Amino acid sequence: MRAITYTHNGDPDVLTLVDRPVAEPGPGEVRVRIHRSGVNPTDWKSRQGSTSGSPVDPPQVPNQDGSGVVDAVGPGVEEALVGLRVWIWEAAYQRPEGTAQEYALVPRRNLDLLPDAASFDLGASLGVPFLTAHRTLTVTEEGPLRLGPGTLQGRTVLVSGGAGAVGNAAIQLARWSDALVITTVSSPEKANLAAQAGADHVIDYRQQDVVAEVRKIAPDGVDTIVEVAAAANAEIDAQVIGLHGSVAVYADDGGAPLSLPVRPLMMPNARWQFVLVYTAPHDWKRRAVDDVSAAVLDGAVGVGEEAGLPLHHFPLEHTADAHAAVEGGAIGKVLVDVAD
Ligand SMILES: NC(=O)c1ccc[n+]([C@@H]2O[C@H](COP(=O)([O-])OP(=O)(O)OC[C@H]3O[C@@H](n4cnc5c(N)ncnc54)[C@H](OP(=O)(O)O)[C@@H]3O)[C@@H](O)[C@H]2O)c1
Repeated sequence: MRAITYTHNGDPDVLTLVDRPVAEPGPGEVRVRIHRSGVNPTDWKSRQGSTSGSPVDPPQVPNQDGSGVVDAVGPGVEEALVGLRVWIWEAAYQRPEGTAQEYALVPRRNLDLLPDAASFDLGASLGVPFLTAHRTLTVTEEGPLRLGPGTLQGRTVLVSGGAGAVGNAAIQLARWSDALVITTVSSPEKANLAAQAGADHVIDYRQQDVVAEVRKIAPDGVDTIVEVAAAANAEIDAQVIGLHGSVAVYADDGGAPLSLPVRPLMMPNARWQFVLVYTAPHDWKRRAVDDVSAAVLDGAVGVGEEAGLPLHHFPLEHTADAHAAVEGGAIGKVLVDVAD
């Protein structure tokens, strides 16, 4: 079978197309015929590593997210899964088996069913972005632990960077859960995408005064801020956070140090919550997967221009270009086509 691997950290050109045998699933594992492999920033960051040229042994197949059809199951896994469509998350987390290959071995706990009505494109776009978005939306004091219709009724969410992959997922999940959603973007093109995703109010942070605009919409402040640029937006966030609100931070502005104004955050008993999808608590992850699958079943989340997330497809042999596209800040979702 065809697979992409890398044996050293480095630029996209370390990604090599190889031919290797189809492996048998071990205990607790499932073998999936991959249709789409989803690419996220985490995939190029892992490939790059901290030192270019460091050996990677065993060879690593990149990409955490994917979708496909179960082809075989290992000992201890229900036979009934064979032939079913699934979406996959964290395939390559502390494992050499990512989704950029024709047949991937995936732990049973890292996949869930993908309804017939949902495309493989959607299935491969769920993992990192939607699970991260779920966590950011469920860490607010007295807020819901679950998402779904009505769970965020009466609450206001501010999503920074609503045209990003995680931002898009946060808008879609928050709207499905009946929150009022405000988002920030940096251009009219991105404003259009964020509106397509379902945001109620879109603010261009390059042209408008974000604090003034948010306060017009939510005079008492917002309940949850889904934050992609914590250092850049710390002052803004402190000025728009409402009583008992949370700022859920999932990215680090390229390592910029974070400085927080204490008193404005103390006054509303605000919370800063740092989020990393891989190390989030187990119970939470199970709930997040169930809720994301329920949103898919409801037809409440989507991909493509109409959902505010343009798709960029690359063939398996051009996985290096797919990584370069994500690293270059492609707007929308980058997918690798492994099978039709
Ligand atoms: N912690 C976790 O578990 C986790 C999970 C997923 C992703 N991440 C990280 O989160 C980051 C984003 O991932 P992604 O897949 O969503 O990437 P993406 O699709 O490239 O989106 C990033 C978005 O952030 C926006 N942005 C940048 N600076 C901003 C600012 N000051 N205010 C508002 N928006 C701003 C960008 O738009 P403009 O530049 O036009 O503003 C862009 O739309 C990456 O660093 C990734 O590694 C972390």
